[in-house]
Amino acid sequence: MNELLKITDLSVEYRRNGRKIRAVAGVDLTLAPGEILGLVGESGCGKSSLGKAIVGIEKLASGEVQFKGNVVKPLDRRGRPPELRNLQMIFQDPYGSINPRRKIGEQIADGLIVAGKPKKEAFQISAELLEKVGLGATALDRYAHQFSGGQRQRIAIARALAASPDAIIADEPISALDTSSQAQVSNLLVSLVQEFGMGVIFISHDLSVVRKISDRIAVMYLGKIVEIGTTEQIWNHPSHPYTRALISAIPKADGNSNMPLDLPGDVPNPEFPPAGCRFHPRCPLVQVNCDKDVPELRRLKDGRDVACVIQTLNQDVIPLESIKGR
Ligand SMILES: Nc1ncnc2c1ncn2[C@@H]1O[C@H](COP(=O)(O)OP(=O)(O)OP(=O)(O)O)[C@@H](O)[C@H]1O
Ligand SMILES: [Mg+2]
Repeated sequence: MNELLKITDLSVEYRRNGRKIRAVAGVDLTLAPGEILGLVGESGCGKSSLGKAIVGIEKLASGEVQFKGNVVKPLDRRGRPPELRNLQMIFQDPYGSINPRRKIGEQIADGLIVAGKPKKEAFQISAELLEKVGLGATALDRYAHQFSGGQRQRIAIARALAASPDAIIADEPISALDTSSQAQVSNLLVSLVQEFGMGVIFISHDLSVVRKISDRIAVMYLGKIVEIGTTEQIWNHPSHPYTRALISAIPKADGNSNMPLDLPGDVPNPEFPPAGCRFHPRCPLVQVNCDKDVPELRRLKDGRDVACVIQTLNQDVIPLESIKGR
């Protein structure tokens, strides 16, 4: 199988007020070369924790990440082992992720020099990358404060590209930007995927953004994937009540009002996750056993996976366990 990333039973835990928080609770995902997988969910659902765990920045409480067949180990002081250098992350905060005291060119060239390129060539490639992301080589000798949020996000993309990545985890790469920069940066990512054929996990809380560029979409709620399928399936025929509610919350001009549902309240505190289905206290379709039974992802006949007892009740579902082993 030619998967770039294979994520199995991944969990991330933090401690807060002496209590354990399970920010990611047993996630399975795959990413193929040339694929853009959108990862959506409200704030606090665990998207960044999952992204950071995939690249080894966050410790795994359980599970495993394989990148091109190699197990991703947590990063230590020795930095990233060579076989994992082609797995890159663009961080949620374009202000915090670029060093304010070093020239942009030096920060992009770093990755190339570590990979063995001579200094002169590394700077030449850095200049080309800055051109590619629409900034121009003059950015080489400038500092982060001389750029806007949109420009910094382009710098972060150029820096990630310097490692010739096969896979990029892009965490909210456009949410800090104004609308026109949002379109430009997401178009840039799509064209880079087409040019270089890397796989991208595109994290966003905004389903209307994600659906424009993703091949598949995974919907996350309180640490778990509740639905995953092609963009067409998720956007035009959402199954999980949470997915339907997320789409219903999108303003009409951009939204898809197919089977609208309300989304009352906020994501609960992960220190105290609801019993049974974690979504049940907010679910407009809640039924009597939803506070007891933990729904597992089940594959529907159309090939998408859904974790909802109600949605899979009357359908021909295939147990995922039987598919996983293939
Ligand atoms: N270092 C940490 N220590 C303790 N709790 C944390 C830590 N990082 C994240 N959390 C908690 O874990 C949960 C998931 O956070 P995470 O940042 O992964 O969510 P997110 O989906 O990326 O949210 P957003 O859309 O706001 O970026 C939240 O409840 C958050 O408060
Ligand atoms: Mg986040």
